[in-house]
Amino acid sequence: MTPMETTNRRQTLNIGLFGFGTVGQGVYKVIAGSRNAHAVIRKVCVRNLEKKRDTVVPKGLLTDNADDIFNDAGIDLIVEVVDDAAASYRIVTTALKQGIPVVSGSKAMIAEHLPELIRLQRENGTALLYDASSCGSIPVIRNLEEYYDNDLLLEVKGILNGSSNYILSRVFDHGESYEGALRKAQKLGFAESDPTFDISGKDSLYKLIIITVHALGVYVKPEDVFTYGISTIHEDDIRYAREKGMKIKLVAQVVKVSDDRFTMFVMPEFVSPSRYIYSVDNEYNGVVIRGECYDRQFMFGKGAGGLPTASSILSDVMARRHDYRYEYKKMGYIDTPVYTTDVTLKVYVYFETTDIPTQLGFERISEMYTSDTGNYVIGDITLDTLLSSRELLSAPDIFLANIPTFFLDKDD
Ligand code: HSE
Repeated sequence: MTPMETTNRRQTLNIGLFGFGTVGQGVYKVIAGSRNAHAVIRKVCVRNLEKKRDTVVPKGLLTDNADDIFNDAGIDLIVEVVDDAAASYRIVTTALKQGIPVVSGSKAMIAEHLPELIRLQRENGTALLYDASSCGSIPVIRNLEEYYDNDLLLEVKGILNGSSNYILSRVFDHGESYEGALRKAQKLGFAESDPTFDISGKDSLYKLIIITVHALGVYVKPEDVFTYGISTIHEDDIRYAREKGMKIKLVAQVVKVSDDRFTMFVMPEFVSPSRYIYSVDNEYNGVVIRGECYDRQFMFGKGAGGLPTASSILSDVMARRHDYRYEYKKMGYIDTPVYTTDVTLKVYVYFETTDIPTQLGFERISEMYTSDTGNYVIGDITLDTLLSSRELLSAPDIFLANIPTFFLDKDD
């Protein structure tokens, strides 16, 4: 390291922070407490100056005018943790166009606009880092980007949403009500301001889209991915899983189904005790990375909450000190795999009034149970059929869960 580099790394890094909710306040505390970041939050831009906040900040630090940050030539880096995808898009694109590097945690915005955001980084010679967008404190993005840069990767699969996992844990392991557990997840600051994102699977989907870019070098639009959440889970589903010695978890997965094709989806899944993710409870996230030669690897950690997410922001801030940026190398490879939904899955579908066995288009039905109160059917179905049956499957009497079929011979 040259003396110049040493000096630069010791120079104070001036940060403009957008957003001062749970994560923003976490970022403020973590940066203030860091001895090595040599970083100062120079301005915090918020939507509402009058809002009551737990964290006390020096007078004049808060502003509601974004230009106080954009027009400040002394700002070296923008950290953006705004809970509004449209605002986040404006902030990030404005910063990148001005050549200001950004650290962001806004998964919805990133997942929707990643191709444009990659182009803006290249055109303006600057960087956007976003490890905090996926799985909070778990360094999944940088790991996939840097370490798993080869053909061996077969699957990235896991629990990517802390709130839905918290709810399912409380319901399964503590016999609490679904609604009570959801309220607790909101109170503890894990849930999105609109918790529908958590329980509908959309939050997991956004993270999966970002993960897939860094795992396989392919961007898939969120609307092209089958996504089913946990909001219609019934007592009967929980009882069924318990009887089989399993748990139901909301699982997101991207899987290579051949050398040149991969598939991806988000769905509740029956998880047996032999799986790593079986023991991932409460707001924790767990990510299993599978590859040829090494079978499975597992990353586990807090995926939601102010301080865990802020720890990831701090890591990206420090990475910027070394001029780190994602190179998106895999997107330029000669052979990137192609996304397919022409794969057959095995699913469990609970239903009450909707005639699922005749309407859903199973390739094969292997089990069916009917009773006065509820029914279920288990069968093989293509992902294409699930995608074209989204409306049918959105009925409140229905609950759908995946029964894993990939890599079964390799798991235990
Ligand atoms: N609402 C998200 C979750 C926050 O519950 O996982 C972290 O992205």
